[in-house]
Amino acid sequence: MLGTKLQINQITEKEQLNSVIKKITIYAPDIAAKAKAGQFVIFKVHEDSERIPLTISSWDKENQTISLIFQEIGFSTKELGCLEVGQKIQSVVGPLGNASEIKNYGTAVVICGGLGTAVAYPVAKALKEAGNRVISIMGARSEELFILEKEMRAISDEVYLTSDDGTKGQKGFVSDVLKSLIAKNYKFDIAFAIGPPIMMSVIADITRPYGIKTIASLNPIMVDGMGMCGACRVTIDGKIQFACVDGPEFDAHKVNFRELMQRLKSYCDEEKFTLSVQSTGGNCQCHGH
Ligand SMILES: Cc1cc2nc3c(=O)[nH]c(=O)nc-3n(C[C@H](O)[C@H](O)[C@H](O)COP(=O)(O)OP(=O)(O)OC[C@H]3O[C@@H](n4cnc5c(N)ncnc54)[C@H](O)[C@@H]3O)c2cc1C
Ligand code: FES
Repeated sequence: MLGTKLQINQITEKEQLNSVIKKITIYAPDIAAKAKAGQFVIFKVHEDSERIPLTISSWDKENQTISLIFQEIGFSTKELGCLEVGQKIQSVVGPLGNASEIKNYGTAVVICGGLGTAVAYPVAKALKEAGNRVISIMGARSEELFILEKEMRAISDEVYLTSDDGTKGQKGFVSDVLKSLIAKNYKFDIAFAIGPPIMMSVIADITRPYGIKTIASLNPIMVDGMGMCGACRVTIDGKIQFACVDGPEFDAHKVNFRELMQRLKSYCDEEKFTLSVQSTGGNCQCHGH
């Protein structure tokens, strides 16, 4: 893209991180200038596409770009994955949501599962830059699904890897490593848990009895991202909050994870239907054949 005049929301780089996860870099000067760890954007690939939230995984103020890392899980993420370098995304709104509360806590443990690493990386990086000792625990179902290992190692004091099937790191879950570190008398001043709701819920149960402040980054369904539609409603300490404007990070010990998991399943049938239309020749050209 060097030497050409870039247009807003134009893709400048595209990378396949593994079989299901892609990274794209977009020219977005206003977002790159303001982005902070923990924030996200809401994009629409085409005029009539649905609105989808993705975390700003990294940003480059000098080149005025932001990077998004996403799993092609359904219709819209596959539609995004179809775009190539040079093409434009119709709209990218952000940065949205509150930035992570970054300060020197002392020792911070960052626990991330699967794609959660894309969301955890800017948080862990900011924690390191603020002077924390950063211990990272990264998990994935198997070896080929790990992402950003090199980047996480570069900003962590210690890194532990776990895979469900034992193909990389310790066999088991990130929660097993956290339990064993606590048993070895590691003292954590703060924990960030970022991944599937079930994982964050388990981590919250582990840290609660030790009084370790734990932050979870919630991923409810979002539509407007501005606190008006109510789609991202979550219950925190018995009170209704909107993850897009009150979060996406909350005190994990106060989150009603059961409700979050239930609400995430609300549109399963519709999601399966649109994906099946796409795979049989819907309006996403690169997956329609
Ligand atoms: C604040 C936030 C940050 C996120 N960051 C990332 C990220 O960095 N990378 C990434 O791959 N994913 C991220 N997600 C999840 C991502 O938005 C969904 O994977 C995406 O919307 C799926 O859409 P789809 O049409 O491809 O799949 P669908 O088949 O429509 O949905 C698959 C699953 O994705 C979730 N989902 C669907 N629509 C939405 C929506 N409008 N808002 C939120 N979740 C939805 C549901 O759990 C659903 O079951 C984030 C979600 C939130 C709320
Ligand atoms: S996404 Fe609409 S209120 Fe949060």
